[in-house]
Amino acid sequence: MRKPVIAGNWKMNKTVAEALELVKDLRFKLENVSEVEIVVCPPFLAIQPVYQFLKGSNIKVGAQNCYFEKKGAFTGEVSAAMLKEAGCSYVILGHSERRQYFKETNEFINKKIKAVISEGLLAIVCVGETLEEREKNLWQEVIRTQLTGCLKGFTAEEISKMILAYEPVWAIGTGKVASKEQAQEVHKFIRDLVVKLYDKNTAEALRIQYGGSVKPDNVSILMGEPDIDGALVGGAALEAESFMKLVKFERKAK
Ligand code: PGA
Repeated sequence: MRKPVIAGNWKMNKTVAEALELVKDLRFKLENVSEVEIVVCPPFLAIQPVYQFLKGSNIKVGAQNCYFEKKGAFTGEVSAAMLKEAGCSYVILGHSERRQYFKETNEFINKKIKAVISEGLLAIVCVGETLEEREKNLWQEVIRTQLTGCLKGFTAEEISKMILAYEPVWAIGTGKVASKEQAQEVHKFIRDLVVKLYDKNTAEALRIQYGGSVKPDNVSILMGEPDIDGALVGGAALEAESFMKLVKFERKAK
């Protein structure tokens, strides 16, 4: 049984003071949840204070990015070891905004994944097609290229240190959520690909989150699908009330 993981990607939102206000509410509202893994991913500066506040709770902390080198003259960058020391246990990598605005390639993301898992952190690796690619029916090719590029050279053991996130670019921040059929089709495609690249056990154990306009009113429908194991959430993770509802989604037997 794969434990669902609901992660909030706060993006470039929340000052330290605002971040603390949000997690104060979350800690209290979510203290009885044990059947779902809960992660919040604040901006870099808020990671340590948020971690200090959440220590001992059931909410884990993640980062939204990191660099692959261990240290040195890389102005403006943050290493996996620095994130670990600050309290992170997860790092989101290859988010479509990083691919789009910061020109991150699969090869570059692959190096970051290596750095993150070598440090003992879990990598949340994002893939997803654009609207144009979906309309041209190219999504399979796009996802295959992204996945094989990002996962290149990793062993099955290393795959167990990852969570994949399918985030169709056309659904991110647009309010246009993928239908449960569309999402399930891609999740199944991803899992089958992992069977081909690795083996059945590795694929069965791997958690694949869906991301893109997940809200309290659509979360249970998506999570009811057999290959959807959680959500990576932007907008709806910025308020305690809606994030709480996401984490407490209605679970149906799969
Ligand atoms: P959204 O963002 O929930 O605001 O669509 C999801 C994401 O970018 O991870």
